[in-house]
Amino acid sequence: MPLMPMRPILDHAAEHGYGLPAFNITNLETLLAVMRAAERTDSPVIVQASQSARKYADDMLLVAMVKAAAERFPTIPLCLHQDHGSSPEVCKSAMDLGFTSVMMDGSLEADGKSPASYEYNVDVTRRTVEMAHARGVSVEGEIGVLGSLETGGGEQEDGHGLEGTLSREELLTDPQQAVDFVKATGVDALAVAIGTSHGAYKFSRRPEGDLLAMDVIAAIHERLPHTHLVMHGASTVPEALQDLINASGGEMAKTYGVPLEEIERSIAMGVRKVNIDTDLRMALTGSAREYLKANPSSFDIRGMHKNGLARMEALCAERFERFGAAGHGARLSNRMASTTSTPSKAAVPA
Ligand code: 13P
Repeated sequence: MPLMPMRPILDHAAEHGYGLPAFNITNLETLLAVMRAAERTDSPVIVQASQSARKYADDMLLVAMVKAAAERFPTIPLCLHQDHGSSPEVCKSAMDLGFTSVMMDGSLEADGKSPASYEYNVDVTRRTVEMAHARGVSVEGEIGVLGSLETGGGEQEDGHGLEGTLSREELLTDPQQAVDFVKATGVDALAVAIGTSHGAYKFSRRPEGDLLAMDVIAAIHERLPHTHLVMHGASTVPEALQDLINASGGEMAKTYGVPLEEIERSIAMGVRKVNIDTDLRMALTGSAREYLKANPSSFDIRGMHKNGLARMEALCAERFERFGAAGHGARLSNRMASTTSTPSKAAVPA
């Protein structure tokens, strides 16, 4: 089955009340772990690549690898999404390569660091939607600014993050502005800012309402019940992986991610796409550290990643199960096959 746009996956998720983890991929190992977990749990898949991942892995090779995964796992509905495109040009380059979904992140200027005006955001997002929809590609927009309420934003992982700091009001999505934004741009999915941030250092304690603004999701969902919401910065930063890293020579300070129960709660309030990158990085590098510590004379790349692959696969499978996506892969691909194999009236020759 060819790569598919994100919209029908999210529509299916909304119809059946589940959420999709959207996993960031950087290399063969991360992609393979996601696909194996999806096959094991029969789940639809969204994999995404940031601009820096595209640069690191050579995006032409990255896309070829994802297309090969679609052939290798033919029953799994698979979407390839550009994570945090910083301009319509970046999104266009992704579409030209074969990405089937793009995020136009106009919440920040094209430098990815300075908060942008609402007008700028609407302009770049609307232009991207026009371009993408003409090619059957889905678009995610963002309103509000991703960043921890503890630190007021600040530098985050993967070259993404604010230069200065912002107040709570400046960071969090304004629900009424979200309504206006969706109407003005026609986005397929909307990323909302609720106090989460990229990377491992999200919270210095288990987040409660003062740090994780679940009420903002509820307020947006009430106004936009049919809009697919996206939660960024949704790694749980498992304590077991922090311990694994630290037991093998790492030096991670104690930290807290987004609790799985809160993500499950958000799915009940219209969150359909849940972005996860850090948890996979921790599973892979923690396992590599553990292997190299136990085998100091080894230089076996496959040996080094074997446990990491298994740990990432287990983590992905757990997310598919907990978010309710498990069991929906074949159903969605059957539906896609029946809709694409029935020619529309206009397509039938007279
Ligand atoms: P984490 O760093 O929490 O995994 O978030 C990733 C993300 O939101 C990518 O857009």
